[in-house]
Amino acid sequence: MKVLVGYASAHGSTREIAEHLGARLGSHGLDTDVSELARVVDPGRYDAYVLGSAVHDQRWLPEARAFVAEHAPELAAKPVWLFSVGMPAALRFPLTLLAGLQPAALVAEFTDRLSFRDHLVVSGVVRDEHLPLLGQLRQLLRPGGWLVIFEHNPLNPLTRFAVNTCPFDENAVLLSGRTLRRRLQAAGFGDVEIAYTAFFPRALAALRRFERALTWMPVGAQYYAIAHA
Ligand SMILES: Cc1cc2nc3c(=O)[nH]c(=O)nc-3n(C[C@H](O)[C@H](O)[C@H](O)COP(=O)(O)O)c2cc1C
Repeated sequence: MKVLVGYASAHGSTREIAEHLGARLGSHGLDTDVSELARVVDPGRYDAYVLGSAVHDQRWLPEARAFVAEHAPELAAKPVWLFSVGMPAALRFPLTLLAGLQPAALVAEFTDRLSFRDHLVVSGVVRDEHLPLLGQLRQLLRPGGWLVIFEHNPLNPLTRFAVNTCPFDENAVLLSGRTLRRRLQAAGFGDVEIAYTAFFPRALAALRRFERALTWMPVGAQYYAIAHA
């Protein structure tokens, strides 16, 4: 029997787990190939499949999802086992409760295309440097929780002047509202709202009551981003 242990890994844990599984299957006399899913040649030639992916943002990696979507007809006729590598062991209460819900959700998109024999969720190694800062913040929030970031608006020339001449801001790189929105969305935040503020200096403080109507105008000295995890 020819078995494929196919994996998609971002930082190596899923690869190591796949290699371990492949070695164990080999030691039981099965002719086993261990391969990155993106590099599998002729997937139809296997008799059984063990497929796994690292979990990012509660989903398999895109290349693993693409493999299942593309080869579902070949896979459907043969025995398939799935494994997901996340970080349930690293979670603290109450997030541990959510980890219990995760296994079914991770492979829910495959259930109508594939009847797999079993699905296992295991923990890999996650290091702080693997998670971009915004991703780390999202992990700390409850689903639907809010993140609010205040930032100087680089589109406002007075703000740029103040930052360029302030010793505290040496080497500071200002992010535009558009860039921050894109980064928040890339980190998995939804419903990102950018609102501009601080339009009027103290001398015009009487006009500040109109600021709420101006939040769409990208000229305020500052802006804030509101995003939902
Ligand atoms: C950007 C990013 C997002 C992640 N999102 C999740 C997640 O939603 N759920 C989870 O259990 N683990 C999550 N993790 C943890 C990884 O799944 C874990 O580090 C795993 O070991 C990755 O496997 P790899 O080393 O093969 O890439 C995330 C990791 C990264 C870098």
